[in-house]
Amino acid sequence: MCGIVGFTGNKQAAPVLLDGLAKLEYRGYDSAGIAVRDGENETEVIKEKGKLRVLAEMTDNGKAVKGTCGIGHTRWATHGEPSAVNAHPHASDDGNVIAVHNGIIENFQEQREKLIKKGYAFHSQTDTEVAVKLIDYYYKKYSQLPIEAIARAMVRIRGSYALCVMFKDYPGEIYCARKDSPMIIGIADGESYVASDVPAILKYTRSVYYIGNMEIAKLEKGAVTFYNIDSEVIEKPLTEIKWDAESAEKGGYEHFMLKEIHEQPKVIRDTINSVVTDGRVHFDSVSLTDEEMQEIEQVYIVACGSAYHVGMDLQYVIEALTSLQVRVELASEFRYRKMTLHRKSIVIVISQSGETADTLAALREAKEQGIKTLGIVNVIGSSIAREADNVFYTLAGPEISVATTKAYSTQLVAGYLLALQFAKARNEIEEARYDALLAEINTIPEKVARILEDKERIQWFSNKLINVSDSFFIGRGIDYAIGMEGSLKLKEISYIHSEAYAAGELKHGPISLIENGTIVISVVTQTGLIEKTISNMVEVKSRGAKVMAVTTAGNYFLEDTAEFVCYVPKIESLFTGSLSVIPLQLLSYYVSIGKGYDVDKPRNLAKSVTVE
Ligand code: AGP
Repeated sequence: MCGIVGFTGNKQAAPVLLDGLAKLEYRGYDSAGIAVRDGENETEVIKEKGKLRVLAEMTDNGKAVKGTCGIGHTRWATHGEPSAVNAHPHASDDGNVIAVHNGIIENFQEQREKLIKKGYAFHSQTDTEVAVKLIDYYYKKYSQLPIEAIARAMVRIRGSYALCVMFKDYPGEIYCARKDSPMIIGIADGESYVASDVPAILKYTRSVYYIGNMEIAKLEKGAVTFYNIDSEVIEKPLTEIKWDAESAEKGGYEHFMLKEIHEQPKVIRDTINSVVTDGRVHFDSVSLTDEEMQEIEQVYIVACGSAYHVGMDLQYVIEALTSLQVRVELASEFRYRKMTLHRKSIVIVISQSGETADTLAALREAKEQGIKTLGIVNVIGSSIAREADNVFYTLAGPEISVATTKAYSTQLVAGYLLALQFAKARNEIEEARYDALLAEINTIPEKVARILEDKERIQWFSNKLINVSDSFFIGRGIDYAIGMEGSLKLKEISYIHSEAYAAGELKHGPISLIENGTIVISVVTQTGLIEKTISNMVEVKSRGAKVMAVTTAGNYFLEDTAEFVCYVPKIESLFTGSLSVIPLQLLSYYVSIGKGYDVDKPRNLAKSVTVE
């Protein structure tokens, strides 16, 4: 997820671009750049790795760059690590086409190879440079018309994009194209604006157009013309933005956490699509070969916090699909144990930030012992991503809220795909079952979306937790792993004491804590374990507990035992974690705001724990 901006009008463009990018830094901040053109003069492109302030210092806050037409970009790397070369804008070698892009072009490798055969050279690792040169190719091959060149490229590109393009032959004009990535176009007297999101232009205008999917726009000073994919002019209504600046940055959501909870369907889909094409998992980008996967006998999953809970879930999935032994370890413990790792093993470290000190230390310990390592990481170019032998990048985009939600969910799905690929590489799964499980994984985004549509019921139940002081989460197998995550979510943002237990463990001590009004939240989705967990629910209920259940649609008998039942759509038992965690994320969010706490910045916590 990146931030793009564009401006053409009668004032200097660079300060407008930098100001807009500053409002979009929450969308990505590992590198930034602008391209500004002064009349017919050459376009000046300035870009650098690092946060936006680096660019502001290089350009004296834009004052050193002349020109009234320009585009800008703040990057969250998805293809190619953060660097000046990979930073946007990207240009054709002769400067004929210059562009910035937010989105993911899934078939960029295939298009890149075709363009190389046509004589194009590539200098970056990005998918964006491919889009730029594809537009340039069509522009020169056909009619030298921007709209037509862009339309032809759109037909060839598979993926998502919000593109802003400048052409050497068309000074003062900016051309935009959109598919699935956000883009908004603003207009004022003699000025036109484009951006990924409202905050970037709200200071200048509230009069905006919403460009649709597969549509193109031509921005001139104070005038915008829209076209469909057939290059026919289409009319768009002008609307007025009602949001204030702060709520605009959160996409209209009250908090980043709620926004990120709602981004989960999309980022899960992006993460699946990053390794699945034509109904098959391809680990070229992860670069873990089938032979390597056949050699492995032991898997260690090492992480902290929610990432550790992902590992707790994945151990059941991997062990169900393969003959592999799986151990899940807390990184802070793993790094100090005098443990001789199994020679034929792999250490999988999971980390959103890729900078967690304990997880990084655990990775180094594994490498010290000569063990193969794989990172499941969200931040491209982070320490863990750079030091692990192999990396599976989650495409969650920047996660601002300290309490992780979308990064957790993309890690989970990445783990499912890894487990599936291990089973396939080791010939431990039938073709038909492989296809069926991959089809089930592909249903997760829309099933998560369906749960989010039903959030009002969870908000209602959350009111019952506002004044409780203790809560327990119970479950068996994968349900236990999800209970751990639900318990952490609740305690870290609502400060209610909470513990997660394997349901079968209650009678070994914890049940002595159950008294009148104690909240017990049970996760009950695992085929073959449901009855067992229900008997634990009955045990605590008979001692006065208030019981809530999260279960799969159809298990209506749970209403005989639980006071409140939240249903998630049916799915393969191995993957229920991706669904049952969603109500628990929402529950924690609503309890926290019900208590008036700062959801996105809970006390005592940091987004990335880069110290021991
Ligand atoms: C969970 O909501 C917390 N943000 C925390 O437990 C986090 O998952 C943990 O610190 C690990 O962070 P990482 O994924 O960046 O390594």
